[in-house]
Amino acid sequence: MRPHVILNAAMTLDGKIATETGSSEISGREDLVRVHELRRESDAIMVGINTVLADDPRLTVHKIDASPEENPIRVVVDSRARTPPHSRVLNNEAPTIIAVSEMAPEGRVSVLRESADVIVTGGERVDLEVLMEELHRRGVRKLMLEGGSTLNYSMITAGLVDEVRVCIAPMIVGGEAARTLVDGEGIKDMADAVRLELIKHYTLGKDLVLEYRVKV
Ligand SMILES: NC(=O)c1ccc[n+]([C@@H]2O[C@H](COP(=O)([O-])OP(=O)(O)OC[C@H]3O[C@@H](n4cnc5c(N)ncnc54)[C@H](OP(=O)(O)O)[C@@H]3O)[C@@H](O)[C@H]2O)c1
Repeated sequence: MRPHVILNAAMTLDGKIATETGSSEISGREDLVRVHELRRESDAIMVGINTVLADDPRLTVHKIDASPEENPIRVVVDSRARTPPHSRVLNNEAPTIIAVSEMAPEGRVSVLRESADVIVTGGERVDLEVLMEELHRRGVRKLMLEGGSTLNYSMITAGLVDEVRVCIAPMIVGGEAARTLVDGEGIKDMADAVRLELIKHYTLGKDLVLEYRVKV
């Protein structure tokens, strides 16, 4: 058993979720409200370690009215326990789980255990299937996946994503090294592409939001 997973991201028209320098303020004000409403409805929000290192996000509900109890659990996928001990995701605004692999140095893991729950799974990288099962066992039924593109790729190609919600901002930035919605190794043959079904589309201020169901 695993949670229902919604991948949510904001991207420019050319599919970038950040510039090559890591600048990633893309969503308009109205879309940020949508994102924070989705956070409030979710039991957990999950990101990859590079997102924590690049943005130092709080991953809480703070753009709309919400009580502290409405903050979802924060989950960081971080094989080598590189989450900086002073990062905002470890503050006391919400519970945090750091998922590490067996590669994580014990010293760094014990420092993280002071401010988070640590789940160890996978030999080199975090085993995402096992992590999903463990989160479900801990009561997580709805999980919001908030990137970045490397984690998005692993989750989608492992068949662990049920919905994709994308905000497309009317901006173009280019850059070969700029992260796109989904990077990773990439599927080689178009015939093997992960297929989606468009469920909803609407504008929010200047942005366009597309909501898809992932076909099984
Ligand atoms: N616009 C948006 O909506 C949005 C949202 C989120 C992020 N972003 C941007 O995305 C960028 C970061 O994206 P990113 O692709 O570089 O990194 P990421 O997806 O945030 O993190 C990827 C890292 O997670 C770790 N990981 C552990 N197990 C994994 C597994 N099984 N599969 C995949 N990753 C695993 C790996 O590092 P280890 O091997 O060291 O563990 C991997 O390099 C930032 O610039 C951020 O601003 C934008």
